Amino acid sequence: MKDLASALSAANAAVFVKLGLDARHADVRRSDRPDLAEFQGNGAMAAAKAAGKKPQELASQIAAAWDAEALAPKPQVAGPGFLNFRVTEGALSDRARVIMGDARAGAALVERKRRVVVDYGGPNVAKGMHVGHLRASIIGESVKRIYRFRGDEVWGDAHFGDWGFQMGLMIVSIEDELGGLADKNALDAKLKTITLDYLEGAYPRAAAKAREDVSFRDRARKATAALQAGAEPHRTIWKAMHDVSMAAQKRDFASLGVNFDLWLGESDADPLIPDMVKDLEAKGLLEEDQGARIVRVARPGETKKKKLDDGTVIEVESPDPLLVVSSEGSAMYGTTDLATIVQRVRDQKPDLILYVVDQRQADHFEQVYRAAAKADYIAREALEHVGFGTMNGTDGKPFKTRAGGVLKLNDLIGQAEEKARERLREAEAEGRLAKDISPAEFEDIAHKVAIAAIKFADLSNFRGTSYVFDLDRFMSFEGKTGPYLLYQAVRIKSILRKAKAESLEPGAIEIAHEAERALALTLDGFNHALALAYDKKAPHFLAEHAYALAREFSAFYDHCPILTSEGAVRASRLALSGATLKQLTLTLDLLGIEPPERM
Ligand code: ARG
Repeated sequence: MKDLASALSAANAAVFVKLGLDARHADVRRSDRPDLAEFQGNGAMAAAKAAGKKPQELASQIAAAWDAEALAPKPQVAGPGFLNFRVTEGALSDRARVIMGDARAGAALVERKRRVVVDYGGPNVAKGMHVGHLRASIIGESVKRIYRFRGDEVWGDAHFGDWGFQMGLMIVSIEDELGGLADKNALDAKLKTITLDYLEGAYPRAAAKAREDVSFRDRARKATAALQAGAEPHRTIWKAMHDVSMAAQKRDFASLGVNFDLWLGESDADPLIPDMVKDLEAKGLLEEDQGARIVRVARPGETKKKKLDDGTVIEVESPDPLLVVSSEGSAMYGTTDLATIVQRVRDQKPDLILYVVDQRQADHFEQVYRAAAKADYIAREALEHVGFGTMNGTDGKPFKTRAGGVLKLNDLIGQAEEKARERLREAEAEGRLAKDISPAEFEDIAHKVAIAAIKFADLSNFRGTSYVFDLDRFMSFEGKTGPYLLYQAVRIKSILRKAKAESLEPGAIEIAHEAERALALTLDGFNHALALAYDKKAPHFLAEHAYALAREFSAFYDHCPILTSEGAVRASRLALSGATLKQLTLTLDLLGIEPPERM
């Protein structure tokens, strides 16, 4: 049994078969109106249609024939023919005990295990890691963990942006700003002065210059091609930038609790490009276009309207062709993405590649995926863009700092930690913080609270939805926030610690009180939430589940004394608390959030 809904479905299917009905309509699900029913089956309507019967009458017949009384009493018929189920206390207690004894806290594995690459994070060398990459990192990390937990073989790959035009741009900018790079000895000494701060300042200067100065832009294009052809000093300059950026990004990712299995970048796919271009050519897919070489991906008749400079509107193919080799002979963003597919097919043999990247890159991925399928590198269905909306400022536009710049990830985490310290000191002043907390533990708690606040604020929205950055709200200990979830987890830990200190043992779970019932039903819902998060690549289903668990535990705690109750009741409640803690910790881990021991 995966969960109570699947047990009810199986029992209902047996009833359908007994009545000569198509068992495919027998599915029973968790009701989305828990105030009206715990579980609901609405297949009587479809079955009645197929059998030419009245839905309500058929529903009543099904209810009358229901005989899995240990699982649930006969269902109630409601509305046009819904079957409403309420499970027995026995079935619920059994289910809670299974969850309590299961290391996976009641979560099933996928039936067919797949090999999956999750491409996420994607920061760019020299540009530093800013909040634009925050959502990719947070959502991607969670998707990776969800896939792995369900039993797939999973590789997370950072896919660093380290090979495109911005590299050529940085090289000419460094040449101009540092000067005298032709001499090998002088070069090494000068490159040692390159720091992350320097790169992060130099990039916007270079980008601005390239927008105004055509000859500078041309030099940058040529430098890109030269770098890719292995020229010096381009390669040496590139390596210096790459190493400085990479070290900083590894530090930022670690602080955010984001871990990759593969720390690869666009440049790692470069060696595969010459053969790939030959292959595309041999397959007749490459076309010349104004000195560049492209692969057309639009199907006949797929067009969009395009406005020309003189105002006339023409129909052009859509999606745009994929640019494979620029007129300077360099590889583009799409080229490295296509070559990376070839590389992954060779190295990981994936059944699925998920790209957790800003929704605004949807067109780019559509071009790459179609080109990959046309070239027969991988099936189109094996490639999926898991897009997301933006993190906005209160003005509704992508978030900027007060000075108008992009916020660096490092600074964001620092700000969140400072807020967390404030909140913890408030709690301390009110006597709500655990006693004898050392400065080191205080810092550890502040860091965990900060990361929980940032991540949960992001993951509690469906990924496609944009949300407004509001650190004060994210950091509240009340409401649907990361800190609230940590607070509930820590509360359970503290209860279980006290029980242990008093040698009070957990025992068999017996669901009796309504609050216990609600909590056990929520525990049973984990598998469903996990499956939804997996199928839809949407961690917010698990964020919702974590919040529901925390809330139901809080209600249970308010209504059902744990340590002050007696005997079997106390043992049951301790076990129920233990099961909740295990599942909550697991769910938070799948979101990339780690609760402290106390706070
Ligand atoms: N570096 C890119 C950016 O900053 C994101 C990379 C996403 N992944 C990919 N395979 N293209 O926009």
